[in-house]
Amino acid sequence: MFVCICRAVTEDEVHEHCNNGAYTIDDIADRCGAGEGCGTCLERLDDILSERAGIATTAA
Ligand code: FES
Repeated sequence: MFVCICRAVTEDEVHEHCNNGAYTIDDIADRCGAGEGCGTCLERLDDILSERAGIATTAA
């Protein structure tokens, strides 16, 4: 499923970037350009980062 239509970035790709050290929306944008177009996906990118932070906090 695409998260960012402008850059054709899927949710799986975003998770992969996070697994490889992306911790912020800017980190994700630097890696794949997601969020650098219309900005519609920024809220979903933020949600993904928050969800992952919750997972990390729970697992720690
Ligand atoms: S949908 Fe991501 S920048 Fe437009």
